[in-house]
Amino acid sequence: MAQKELLNQIDPNRIPEHVAIIMDGNGRWAKKQGFLRIFGHRQGVDTVRNVVETAAEMGVKYLTLYAFSTENWNRPKAEVNALMQLLVDSIKKETPRLMQNGIRLETIGNVEQLPAGCNKTLTETVEATRNNTRMTLILALSYSGRWDIIEAVRKIAMDAKKGLIDPESIGEADLNAALNTANYPNPDLLIRTSGEQRISNFLLWEIAYSEIHFTNVLWPEFSTDDFYKAILDYQGRERRFGKTGDQIKQVV
Ligand code: FPP
Repeated sequence: MAQKELLNQIDPNRIPEHVAIIMDGNGRWAKKQGFLRIFGHRQGVDTVRNVVETAAEMGVKYLTLYAFSTENWNRPKAEVNALMQLLVDSIKKETPRLMQNGIRLETIGNVEQLPAGCNKTLTETVEATRNNTRMTLILALSYSGRWDIIEAVRKIAMDAKKGLIDPESIGEADLNAALNTANYPNPDLLIRTSGEQRISNFLLWEIAYSEIHFTNVLWPEFSTDDFYKAILDYQGRERRFGKTGDQIKQVV
């Protein structure tokens, strides 16, 4: 189906507010072409740019990208270093475009673990883009869902120890507030590319009621059309949040 036709089918009043993406398949894409894995990551940056701009144009307010997981530190050192360098170079290069497009950059994850130069570039871009309001781009870096939950539990336990919070009163709102994602709504839609159908320690708490779209397309080949298809898939779902279909249809 032509791009315009796909776009015409999308209901502009039901665009997901928050889309989260597990960008997978860079390595396999590179291997398929007979290239080194890093070439796939490089190509993946072009997809990131396109998806960020398409999402902003459609009215998505938050876009979270799983750029580097806690577990990714276990990859060969050369790949980790190349990914970090690519991240620094890309953020530096793309900052003017983020400004032009009104996009605010933020991060979640244990960013202190990143190389100092990487951290510096990230801090500068987060600072430079902080007043942009069209869309917030959240990069998950040295991030994992379990890491964030453990950190949040530790914070709450410390507050309880100091007598600032009564353990009996601890509820969902306390955990929400202690997570790195405290300032964002939960993702409405989670996309994973490359045919793998798992969560890989991403946003474990936050995706409790997210719609999940799996596609076989490898991240470097994920196109505007593929993004539209994910939105259309989302719009075709009935979100029930544990209620019955009839309850959802009732006008309140
Ligand atoms: C997964 O593919 C991808 C990653 C671990 C890194 C994602 C990074 C980028 C797209 C580039 C930098 C990002 C930004 C935001 C500038 P994989 O290597 O696991 O692929 P495979 O499963 O085929 O091996």
